[in-house]
Amino acid sequence: MKGRPKVNGERLLRRLSEFAEIGKTNAGGVNRQALSNEDRAARRLLADLATARGFKIFQDAIANLFIRREGRNAALPPMLIGSHLDSQPTGGRFDGALGTLAAFEVLEALEDAGHETEAAIEVVAWTNEEGSRFAPGVMGSMAFVGAAHPDDFQSVIASDGANFREELAATLAALPEAEMRPLGTLISAYLELHIEQGPSLEREGLAAGVVTAVQGTRWLTVTFSGSAGHAGTTSLAYRRDPMVAATAALNQLQISVMPQDEDARLTVGRFSVHPGSINAIPDRVTFTVDIRHPDAASLTAIEARVRAACEEAALSQRCSVEISTSFDMPPGSFSKVMTDRIEAAARALELPYKRMISGAFHDALFVARVVPAAMIFVPCRDGISHNEAEYVEPVDVINGARLLLEATMESVS
Ligand code: GLV
Ligand code: MN
Ligand code: MN
Ligand code: MN
Repeated sequence: MKGRPKVNGERLLRRLSEFAEIGKTNAGGVNRQALSNEDRAARRLLADLATARGFKIFQDAIANLFIRREGRNAALPPMLIGSHLDSQPTGGRFDGALGTLAAFEVLEALEDAGHETEAAIEVVAWTNEEGSRFAPGVMGSMAFVGAAHPDDFQSVIASDGANFREELAATLAALPEAEMRPLGTLISAYLELHIEQGPSLEREGLAAGVVTAVQGTRWLTVTFSGSAGHAGTTSLAYRRDPMVAATAALNQLQISVMPQDEDARLTVGRFSVHPGSINAIPDRVTFTVDIRHPDAASLTAIEARVRAACEEAALSQRCSVEISTSFDMPPGSFSKVMTDRIEAAARALELPYKRMISGAFHDALFVARVVPAAMIFVPCRDGISHNEAEYVEPVDVINGARLLLEATMESVS
């Protein structure tokens, strides 16, 4: 034994910078969307770092990547820690990467100290957490817990036209040395470190959030269809213009669908017009709706109001509307055993913290369906995330990793 395992902060910060080079954008963020060449390059680097330290790597049918450090007793299910490596199209360098690389730092810290654990510990990099390229998000953890099967996503086409099936196959093939394992292998518990992606920890001067629950998410795709026509010759009265219907619906969503509910969130992040010609009335307008709420019934009520507003707008323009749900992640809570463990670690490290709920969705919520799971949040500057300007102070990166190490060691003995 070489003493108590200790996070090597300098190494972790260096790794974060190395990974931020993969898919780096001009504005200092990253574009490393799921199953892209950049995502594959990040997986390659992580796999190489793992192999260099003597850890074994595995993949499952949805390309979740696992790095295993053996314990004394191979019969015990491993403890899982990690996050994701994929990013938003104009994402930051910490969303996902922090939790994945801090988890890998935990393995390295244990290795440096020659610290044996009873059960193995595995780092996971979940596939397609973001859902920005291929909807829905958290595909990897959903498949891991059996809430979905990779086949369910075979026909998903990306916003860039890429085909999920082909990109998944190419990603799996990019790590030929990884041993294939069945989906959903037995684990004992799960911990994930992530940036808060909101401003509260920074504002309150806290080092960490002990995440007790995650609010729910629904994703809708709304398509208004009307009649294409000549912009110069078709009088307004005769049009069936899906653009007019769609914008009327959007207006209605903002002014009456979300009244006085401070907890409700509604975002239209994608909007497309077909055929997209300056002098043609469009025949089709499609937009996405992202709805969030901590309460399941409110989520359902908001979805119903969105649907009613869209149907009313379609009717008013003699258009038709189709609405499909591509993602339904109910709100859920984490294990008290695990949150207590994180809290005890924060106290032991004398880090000021609070218990809080997550506004963003995370793989941990799906994993929590099968084993005790919880999350640690660290502050990010001005609460900014899903933005290239995302930034985390080095001290917060390191404290997050220290907390993850402590809570993990408590969980595996
Ligand atoms: C995760 O990226 C989310 O949108 O909550
Ligand atoms: Mn994330
Ligand atoms: Mn994200
Ligand atoms: Mn996320």
